[in-house]
This record gives sequence, structure tokens and C-alpha cells, in this order.
Amino acid sequence: MVPQTPVPTTTIGTPGAANAVRLVLLGSGELGREVALEAVRLGCEVVAVDRYESAPAMALAHRRHVLAMTDEAALRAVLEEERARPCAALIVVPEIEAIATGVLQELEADGLRVVPTARAARLTMDREGIRRLAAEELGLPTSPYRFCDSAEELEAAVAALGAPCVVKPVMSSSGKGQSVVREVGGAAAAWTYAQESGRVGASRVICEGFVAFDYEITLLTVRHAGGTSFCAPIGHTQEDGDYRESWQPQPMSAAAAARAEEVARTVTDGLGGWGIFGVELFVRGDEVLFSEVSPRPHDTGMVTLASQALSEFALHVRAILGLPIPTDGDGRVPLLGPAASAVVLGPDELGEHDAPGYRGAGDALAVDPSVELRLFGKPDTRPGRRLGVALARGGDVAQARERATAAAALVRVEG
Ligand SMILES: Nc1ncnc2c1ncn2[C@@H]1O[C@H](COP(=O)(O)OP(=O)(O)O)[C@@H](O)[C@H]1O
Ligand SMILES: [Mg+2]
Repeated sequence: MVPQTPVPTTTIGTPGAANAVRLVLLGSGELGREVALEAVRLGCEVVAVDRYESAPAMALAHRRHVLAMTDEAALRAVLEEERARPCAALIVVPEIEAIATGVLQELEADGLRVVPTARAARLTMDREGIRRLAAEELGLPTSPYRFCDSAEELEAAVAALGAPCVVKPVMSSSGKGQSVVREVGGAAAAWTYAQESGRVGASRVICEGFVAFDYEITLLTVRHAGGTSFCAPIGHTQEDGDYRESWQPQPMSAAAAARAEEVARTVTDGLGGWGIFGVELFVRGDEVLFSEVSPRPHDTGMVTLASQALSEFALHVRAILGLPIPTDGDGRVPLLGPAASAVVLGPDELGEHDAPGYRGAGDALAVDPSVELRLFGKPDTRPGRRLGVALARGGDVAQARERATAAAALVRVEG
């Protein structure tokens, strides 16, 4: 299928008026909130959609809808309602994976614009779609893998690929249902765990050979009217499948950096459309393996709120609207300097709690003048839920990381 070619939005109208440029955010979390802010700054009309009231981006939106975006009928009804309101351009901007993407494809075929494309949203919501595209169609190197539909098939896959293996539901994100199998006998437990935590209605898992990488990166890649541009590589640490810290730039050999850009260009060209992509890569020496890609801002990319004049969110909105992306001489998005982010999570001891409070913001900000806090204003907390992020700059990445983690640790979440 030929990727759709977007059309630049030449006139930005007035929010609420017939000439408005309307962005409908499917998913209104902390990443959506920054997208909404950038869109509002450029005079767009923003509609925030999420499954719960008071989602972060709703604070900045002109209008909101609360619904399960996996519910085809509910999603179609809301998009039709938004389409029926007069505006000059209606652009659907997915922020999460779990969306009834069949509806997006159907409406896109009927002229609705989806960022970057409805096909990209469909392929990346399912680990099988994107893995087959990257490894089998585009020929990119990945971990060895097999898809399995039963505990027996999973056991055979672990035996064939060799332990350790990483097992993940094909429909899941943020590490949900994901486990490492250290010997063939562990396959049954990994199967059961994946079934309990994956998205409803999908039992298939991917079994991947464990990659002993030196480090992993997110390579933010922008496809825009002027071509493809890359941000400096972002390094990160993951725990329980969710990111804890990220920093930019991640030092890389020239060969690995060049290869990473080649892989990112290939996969984002394969998906098409305009917008930012978070390309996740594993690096071992000069070898680069493709892992997965988000056709939207990436959580580890929150560091760009401190490291770049135009954050990944600003780049996304500019790209979506067909506006220019300034780059330095070699086509890369300029970096202001080394920076880091560290997350603030819902503490285990608080359990599930409404209306959490945050103490210690002053102490956190006093760590260094470069420190900034983003508290997402989520209506409730649960153990491990991401509630905020601390950002810092430094003379080098190590110093920026120290400042960001120190600041995040000083924020105490209370009931
Ligand atoms: N095959 C693998 N080998 C080693 N580590 C892996 C492998 N797959 C995933 N991981 C680790 O788990 C993290 C989350 O996996 P990922 O596939 O990105 O799932 P999610 O969609 O939940 O982000 C990765 O960032 C990486 O640290
Ligand atoms: Mg990931």
C-alpha cells in the first residue's frame, strides 16, 4: 500500500469558528497534554478524548469526550460528531496504541486525516504487524522471534530460539504481561502471565530471543514537509517494562549512529505520513537491532522538553501542520545541551487513591536552577502509575541524570 501524502495546512483559523484547524487527540495523557499545549500555542482547536474524566490533556482542550477508544461504535460516533462540526481541517492524532484502528482506516478512506496514517496506527498497535513489516518486508535486523497461540507453541518457540526469551502479548504496552523465560520449563508460566495482562480479546504472544544489548535508545525521527530529520539519540533505563530515566544525547560510535538513522529512516518511510516517531533500537557494538516504534511522541522523549528548543511535541505539531522543522547543517534537530528526565511514580504504599498531593516541589526545584517539574494532574494514583517527571540539564549526561533523579526523588506523593 502506498503511504498517504499529507497536505500542508496553509491557513490556521480561529478555534471554534468555521475556519478552525481542529486536532482530535485520541488519548489525553501526559504526552497528549504537551501536544495539546503546542497545538493551542499555534492557534489550533483541540479536542481531547480519553476513557476517563480529567485526563491531563483535557485541561488544555476546547472540548472533551470520555469513551473507550477500543469501542468501535463509540469511536465512530465521536469522530462523526467532530466531522459534522464546521472547520477547515480535521486531524485525528492518536496518542495511545489501544484504539479501534479499523474505524480510523475506514474513515481515512473516506477522507479523514489520521496522523501519521491509519495504517501506521494499526500496524503499531499490534506487535505482530510492526514486527512483520520491519523484519519480513523491510528486511531490518531484529531479535529472533516466533508468534505463539498456546503454551505448547510457546514452549516449542523457547526450545527453538534458545533461552532466555522475552514473552509479550502482541497487544500490550508499558511492559504489561511481559516476562523473561530463563528455561524451557518456564514457558507455561509466561503464557499464563501474558494471558492475564494482555489486552482483552487477543491471546497471541511474541516470543523473542533475549538481546544482550550494550544499551538501548529511542531515535526520535520526524517526517515532515521538508523530508526526514533526526533528533540526537535518547538513552533510557526500563524497569518492569516502563521507563524510569532517559537522557540525551546517548553517546554512540559513528558507525552505530549512522546505522541507527538508516534503520529509523527505513521503518518510518515504511509507515509514511507526517509526524514524530519514537524508534526503539537495541545497540550491541556497532550493530543496531530494531525493536519497536511509536508513530507519535515517545515517553522517553519527554527529555526533549529540556534538551531541545523544539520538544518532540512541538516537532510533532509542526510536522502535522506541514510547518518547517529547523535543523542544523547535517539535517539534525539541534540539541541545546545534555539533559535528563526521571519519572515520579505512584508509591506502592499509597495503593489506589483519589486526588493525590505532591510535597517537596520546592526541594526538587532547588536541586539546580536547570531543574523543571511536570506534574500531570491525574485524578488518581495507583502503584507505579506515572504521575510526573523531573527534567534537568547538566554539563554532561551524568550530571543531568544526577540532578533529574535527585529532583524526582524529592517529590513525595501523598494521599
Ligand atoms: N528481545 C529483548 N531482549 C532484551 N530486552 C528486551 C527485549 N524486548 C524487550 N526488552 C526490554 O523490555 C523493554 C520493553 O519492551 P518493548 O518491546 O519496548 O515493550 P513495550 O511496548 O511495553 O514498551 C525494552 O525497552 C527493553 O528494555
Ligand atoms: Mg517499548
